[in-house]
Amino acid sequence: MSKESKSYKNSPKKFYIKTFGCQMNKNDSSIITDILESNEYKRTEDPCYADIYIVNTCSVREHAEQRALGHIASLKKWSDKEERVVAVVGCMAQRLANEITKQYAFVNLVLGPDSYRKIAEYLDQIFDTKTRIIETKLGNEVYGDIFPKRTGITDFVSIMRGCDNFCTYCIVPYVRGRARSRSVDEIMSEMQSMVRSGVKDITLLGQNVNEYSHGNTDFAGLLNMVAQNLELVRLRFLTSHPKDLDDATIKAVRNNDKICRWFHLPLQSGCDRILQLMNRKYTKNDFQELVQRIRQNIPDATVTTDIIVGFPTETEEEFQETVGMMTEIGFDNAYLYRYSPRQGTKAFEYESLPEHVIKDRLKRIINVQNKIVISKARQMIGQTYEVLFESPALNNATRAKTRGNKNVIVEKEIAPGVLSKVIVKEVRGRTPIAEIIKYFRY
Ligand code: SAH
Ligand code: SF4
Ligand code: F3S
Repeated sequence: MSKESKSYKNSPKKFYIKTFGCQMNKNDSSIITDILESNEYKRTEDPCYADIYIVNTCSVREHAEQRALGHIASLKKWSDKEERVVAVVGCMAQRLANEITKQYAFVNLVLGPDSYRKIAEYLDQIFDTKTRIIETKLGNEVYGDIFPKRTGITDFVSIMRGCDNFCTYCIVPYVRGRARSRSVDEIMSEMQSMVRSGVKDITLLGQNVNEYSHGNTDFAGLLNMVAQNLELVRLRFLTSHPKDLDDATIKAVRNNDKICRWFHLPLQSGCDRILQLMNRKYTKNDFQELVQRIRQNIPDATVTTDIIVGFPTETEEEFQETVGMMTEIGFDNAYLYRYSPRQGTKAFEYESLPEHVIKDRLKRIINVQNKIVISKARQMIGQTYEVLFESPALNNATRAKTRGNKNVIVEKEIAPGVLSKVIVKEVRGRTPIAEIIKYFRY
């Protein structure tokens, strides 16, 4: 890590980071933290003590941008104190750099997702000369050599950045740039250092991990290598694209105990015409066959998904096809979104459906999925699971995760990182409550 930037050793400047968006963005906030801490800046969890307020933003839906913009607007008062700097970074910074600088005079630094390497240098300059810096170039950056400090039981490692799929609704390829993979050596080294720091459960991250490719290593190769060589308890990956998830990856999950039996497979729509308009490059039938292949190979696999309702021109019958797929497949969990037009994407040119139609479909599909989740949770009663305890829950209970990525609650205080066998006794709301049968490590 470059130490070129000016040291504030005597009075280190403190920064606070507020992160919006997906796990990629969370991981990027860890990267930013590492870069700043290597340059004598110090992270604080309380903005009152901070000299720098960093907002790491998301652009995926209009709502995400509204939340980030609202947060930035609320920092006007915070920034009034002299010598305070507001930085807006991430996907919305990339998309709306000009608008942000025009609208919020108190924002001193705007950086896109590929511009974090110089963040300490830029902050030094801003403190020295009160200048304003905007940088939104996209390139081949993968931050391969940056290994953020880790303190938790579960954490992420980015294996690739960007996306070339250009689903017609999606802003990600425009704000994150072209798909590129990080080297196997860098991924392995970072993961080894995470394991040494006590991380037990690592999720490999990419917009479409199935497209990972570095030298001769593809995603299945990487999964096998990591699972076989690292002292991990659990390994997961996000996100799989239904057009690319191959048999070698399914086999890697089946053959390695450490890899969680969980596939996050965004369906987006259950109707072939809409899937084609979305540029997803698979059909309803392809998706059904894929889930069948997963379940044949790994009977206890869980499958979760993302769905967009109200895509332009979607008819009631086509929406019903999606609902039909949800009940037929029985997703263990689903993130359900209303279509949000994103300027610059292909679908932005299509005429949107009326607001009330989109809202109504979202409400109805949420009801359908809630019923599925509750019924799946009830099916867990009486079953045993291996769980890893992750974090405290309300009333002295502890939240743990099954290998299928399901949350269960155990009504006891248990240290994070403990692995045990539990039996599910009841379901409250949609949450399974379990009791411990046997500890594996304590
Ligand atoms: N790379 C992943 C995730 C991308 S963003 C993938 O391909 O699945 C996460 C989810 O946000 C997507 O799966 C999609 O369901 C949703 N999403 C993306 N753009 C959207 C938009 N314009 N409106 C509504 N939902 C959107
Ligand atoms: Fe967006 Fe599609 Fe890429 Fe996912 S695969 S990030 S939905 S363009
Ligand atoms: Fe993630 Fe949002 Fe960017 S979903 S990749 S932070 S647009």
